[in-house]
Amino acid sequence: MTARTIAIASDHGGVELKALLAADLAELGWSVLDLGTDGTASVDYPDFALKVADALAARLAERGLLICGTGIGISIAANRHAHIRAALVHDAFGARMARQHNDANVLVLGGRTTGPEVARDCLRIFLETPFEGGRHARRVAKLSDNS
Ligand code: RB5
Repeated sequence: MTARTIAIASDHGGVELKALLAADLAELGWSVLDLGTDGTASVDYPDFALKVADALAARLAERGLLICGTGIGISIAANRHAHIRAALVHDAFGARMARQHNDANVLVLGGRTTGPEVARDCLRIFLETPFEGGRHARRVAKLSDNS
């Protein structure tokens, strides 16, 4: 796996926030795999959730960032992939808990619901916060237990 690579993607509702956060990611020392979309033309968010899910499955990236207008559609789409734990986050506390308790590997934001400074905070915390393990590891393991 390439160390500290994050796969990012959005639909048209998140493209502006994606561009802003891509610049931050470089400053935070992450290499960015930008999987689109690149403009404001209307696209379908499940296609972009799939791109990030595939990048993580192929170990081209260790984390993901997904953005649509609300973050809702693209988080639903991402979580249909068994290896993805995507957390739709609206504040710093949520970003911290998504890592400490849920070991989320994909951060989801709403480009039309979360302001740029809150989004930047969420991203930095998501990247810097370790998983606590312990009792949370048992619960996270159950997320993949389909028996
Ligand atoms: C696109 O208009 C919008 O529906 C999408 O960005 C997202 O908010 C869906 O959940």
